[in-house]
Amino acid sequence: MSESRVPSRRRYLVCEPRHFTVQYAINPWMHPDRPVDIDLARGQWAELIGAYRTHGHTVDTVEPVTGLPDMVFAANSALVLEGRVFGSFFHAPERRPESSAYDSWFKAAGYDVHRPESVCEGEGDLVPAGRWVLAGTGFRTTREAHREVQEFFGVPVISLQLVNPWFYHLDTALFVLDEGHDANIAYWPGAFSPGSREVLARLYPDAVLATREDALAFGLNSVSDGRHVFISPRAEELAARLARQGYVPVPVDLSEFHKAGGGIKCCTQEIR
Ligand code: ARG
Repeated sequence: MSESRVPSRRRYLVCEPRHFTVQYAINPWMHPDRPVDIDLARGQWAELIGAYRTHGHTVDTVEPVTGLPDMVFAANSALVLEGRVFGSFFHAPERRPESSAYDSWFKAAGYDVHRPESVCEGEGDLVPAGRWVLAGTGFRTTREAHREVQEFFGVPVISLQLVNPWFYHLDTALFVLDEGHDANIAYWPGAFSPGSREVLARLYPDAVLATREDALAFGLNSVSDGRHVFISPRAEELAARLARQGYVPVPVDLSEFHKAGGGIKCCTQEIR
């Protein structure tokens, strides 16, 4: 079966953690009094970028800005589909200046950027998955933004209610395994309201379910190219389940970034 999983080349946008630190707390993972090992963080991040390149993916970088410690979490800056960019509007005032920094990169690269009218944190809460865009709400991105996304892209948006503050972004509780109409996902049901759980079960009856432990180890904050799954080595059971489904786990440890509430996917924006 593992032969049947075909990877596709992706283009990722990332931001070097030159100014990464935890200096405010906007999710339960963040403790400004707990030190971050910046050299270790840089090394872990470099390993992720190396793994992407080794597997044939293109990686572009945005210049980090002093005073924006969370800018490393590139996923939050936009959702890009078919070359159209839906930008960001952060919930936390501390992160709001990141939007213009990323918008400048997109503009210089030749893209127009649509600025959302209500709070919207890019791929953190917006996950293209087959025929739909799955959209999280409850902590950051608003339902108004979900409607705006649907209107902008003309793609059906499925709103999902997040209920656990440790899983404040959709991409901490769910990720997409492959491309195309029948894309499958992996997720942890405990992060969602009962109704949203039912929606996910109906749309993705063959989804790979993660344990609570693997979800808390950022196992669902993973990136898949359709074959290779760049995943936290701490999410052992999930990696084993994925391997049984024919995927090839590529372990990359971003433990220093977990202190800010982020992992592999948070550090990765996909340009589609
Ligand atoms: N400290 C950041 C925040 O709370 C982490 C963002 C993680 N990004 C993500 N895509 N989940 O906003």
